[in-house]
Formats: sequence, structure tokens, C-alpha cells
Amino acid sequence: MRRVALDGPLIVGGGLAGLSAALECAPRKALLITPAPLLDACSSAWAQGGMAAALAEADSPALHAADTVAAGGGLVDGAAARALTDRGAETVAWLAGLGAPFDRDAHGRFAVSREAAHAVARVARVGGDGAGRAILSALVVAARAAEHLDIWEDARLLALIRADSGRVVGAVVERGGRRVEILAPAVVLATGGIGGLYAVTTTPAALKGEGLAIAQAAGADILDPEFVQFHPTALDIGRDPAPLATEALRGEGARLVDRDGGFLLGADAEADLAPRDQVARAVHRAVTEGRGAFLDTRRAIGDRVARDFPALFAAAMSAGIDPRVSPLPVAPAAHYHMGGIAADTDGRTSVAGLFAVGECAATGVHGANRLASNSLLEAAAFGRRAGRVAATEVAAANGPRLAPHIGAELTAAALAQLRQGMSRWAGVERDASGLGRLIDLIDRLDADAPGAPALAAARMVAEAALERRESRGGHARSDFPDTNSEARHTRLTGAPLPAIPKKTAA
Ligand code: SIN
Repeated sequence: MRRVALDGPLIVGGGLAGLSAALECAPRKALLITPAPLLDACSSAWAQGGMAAALAEADSPALHAADTVAAGGGLVDGAAARALTDRGAETVAWLAGLGAPFDRDAHGRFAVSREAAHAVARVARVGGDGAGRAILSALVVAARAAEHLDIWEDARLLALIRADSGRVVGAVVERGGRRVEILAPAVVLATGGIGGLYAVTTTPAALKGEGLAIAQAAGADILDPEFVQFHPTALDIGRDPAPLATEALRGEGARLVDRDGGFLLGADAEADLAPRDQVARAVHRAVTEGRGAFLDTRRAIGDRVARDFPALFAAAMSAGIDPRVSPLPVAPAAHYHMGGIAADTDGRTSVAGLFAVGECAATGVHGANRLASNSLLEAAAFGRRAGRVAATEVAAANGPRLAPHIGAELTAAALAQLRQGMSRWAGVERDASGLGRLIDLIDRLDADAPGAPALAAARMVAEAALERRESRGGHARSDFPDTNSEARHTRLTGAPLPAIPKKTAA
């Protein structure tokens, strides 16, 4: 196997979190790897709404943190939320300084939109619903120009390499059909979420929780994997992935209605801006009961929809639906994973040498239900912090190492079965019987593809969902509809070191 030894961090993932971390490693050298060209196959490029930050006069980081805590179903870490919201304005300014073309008002201030469960308008947007791609494009330009950065856009993570102390000292990746061993003083995982484990998702289907599974196999603790956020308004036009209809539309007064025009959440327009988990359940029930769910933008937004929400408009028109004329059919879709690799606000995990940032990490800021548009802020703000800290790690790669664990690959047919099973049994509403069937399916698939990372990630979600006998945030159990008085995390401890370590040559 080819071996590369780095003098600085290895960053795995080229979305907003990975690029932010990589840029902040300077002047230390760093290598960033992604399995696809930058801007392809990462969720942040697809984000529509924008970046939540206390920018308006009526707003403050404390108010933003309070909304974050209130949305999170009792499981948000208040200090982590405050660490995030305190960095809102400076993070938007940093990105704007790199060229992200945030929308401005007539006075040149950042224009902000309102989204669900935010007390005030605080989502900095770009080109209406084009925030993710525009912000990421600015970072890609900066990363390509950065002298301290090497970028491989064709390398897929297979496993982490550990010293026999347990410390992560590098990774095995596949590049051009060959395996490469990369040794590094620190590895930063920014591998994204798990939307691709579901048949209906708003994220790139390539994101199947591999980082989560590979980190756990290397000993990292995993937090709250059962908490998956379903976006209430994915366009239901038979596309995989499903195009998103941003919450900012409801922020501007678009309404959720059934086939007969009845309001799904009641006549009060504020109800359509309830926390996302509640709205997703109302949409899910309307769809499963056969009433249908539609987003009606006609009255509140009218003809402006083409100019102000161009991504939505193009997606709807491509399916032959003109939102100026007809309500848009919508359904919930897997959108964001609140659970992930347990990490602090500097990205440190439970394993020395291993950092996690962005959606693959669980830092405590999202709890059981993420507040809309907090994830882009978290990716950039905590990504930067992690990059700075990872760049201070000192090489420790010489010495005996454990044999890395490399899981099998899932066939396309097996993956299709898994995705159907996850949507059916670990979706917006779950119960013990369905989760049991899902775990049986995962067992059967695992027999043919032992240790496949997608199966390992799906198993974490299914088993933790079965174990959590209550409903909280994004986790709704139809057989346990109540919320326990005490909010508890699920913490899966990482794989222990083998009793008799098999060593590879130093
Ligand atoms: C949206 O624009 O509705 C999605 C924003 C988010 O998920 O944070």
C-alpha cells in the first residue's frame, strides 16, 4: 500500500465544516480529501435557507441561544449553544470577507429572513434560496488559493489508523482504485450526515454515515444517533434526492394545506412556524392519512417566487408545477442528523488525535431537534475552531499501529433495501415492531457485507431508536408518545481496543 506522511492535519470532507477547518490550519500544512469534486456531494452546498446569526438590532446571541435551547427537546448543551451563537456575527463577517455574497438591505446591512422556531428574523441568506452553494463557492476559491493546503478530490475514507495507545494517527483511503495509507498528527472528520440511508432525503444520497461508523470502529463515542431531523417540506415530485422547499417560504407567509385547502396546523399562520419536528409530524400524518400535504405560496409570495426563491421555482417547474398557479406537493424527508460523533466545540472527540466537525459531529448544540439554519453556522464556526486546534497537534505516528478495520461494501440492491427499510421503520414515526424488523433487515444485509459502514450507521440509529422509549424532538415513537420528565442522552461507547493488538510494521 502506498504511504504518505503528513506534517499537519488530514481533513476528511470538503463541505463547509471541512473547508473552514482546512483554511484555519494555516500556516500549518494540511491535506483535505473528498470523494467527489468540491461543491459536489456535500449537504452544505445544497442548503437553501442560510446561516442563523444574531445580526438584527432586535436580536442578540443570548436570544439566539435561547431559541436553540427551546427547539432542542431538553437535550441542548446551553454552554455549547452560547459558544455557537456568540460566534454568529463574526462568522458571517468572516465568510463575507472571503467573498460570500450575502444579501444586503437598503442600508448595506445583512438581510435576514425568519425561519421556524426563531423568535426574530435572523437567517442571513444569499440570492433568496441559494445560500449554501454561494457560501461554499467562496470557500472553495479560498481553499484552492491557499498555499498551506493540498486537496485530493478523488479519495474515499475507508478506515482510521490507530497507534496501539488508541490514538488516531492517520487513515486508509481509496484513491484511483488503490489504497493509500495517510499518516497525520491529527485527523478531522467532516464527513457529513446520513441522509443517504433513507429512501427520501434532501441531502446528497452519497452521504450514508460512513464517518460515524468508521469513527466508532476506531473507538470514538457516538451521541444520540436516533435523532434524525425530517424536513417537513421536501417537494414530493418523485426525485431522489428530493428538492427542498425552504422554511423561509413559510417565514414569508406560505401556508401548509391539505388537498381541500384546510390548514394542516390550524388557521393561525404562526403555527406553520412551529419547531420543525412538530411540523414534520403534521405533514407526515396528512400524507399517510391520504389528505395530502401542500405548500401554498400563492397568496403570500405570488409572482415573486420566481425571483426570490429561484432554486425552488426551478425544481417545481421541472416537474410541471407552477407555484404561482398551484400549491406544491410536499412530504417530509430525512434532512439532518442531530446525533453523531461526540465532540466538544473545538471538535475534540473521545479519541486522541481524532476531531469531528459539522453534521457528522454531535457537539450538543442541536439536542433532539436542530433549530433551522444553525447547522451552517456550526459547520463554519466550530469548523474553524477545530482546524486551529488540530493544527497544534504534534506528530505521533511512529511506532506500532493496530490493523485498521475496513468494512465490506454494500451492493446497490442491498443499499436500496436498507434505504426503504430506514424510511419505513426509522422515519418520522417509529414503533418497536417496525424497528425490530429494521434490525432484522440490517442483520440479514450484514451477513453478506460484514461491517459495511452504512449498515453500522443504520444499526446505531435503529438500536438507539428502539431503546429510547419516549418521544422527544425528532424521535417520535407511536407506541411511546409521551416525553420522559428527565432528558437523557444516548451515548454509545466506541469499539474497545483489541485485547491482543495485531500490529503492523512501524
Ligand atoms: C431550510 O431552508 O428550510 C433548511 C434550513 C436548515 O435546514 O437549516
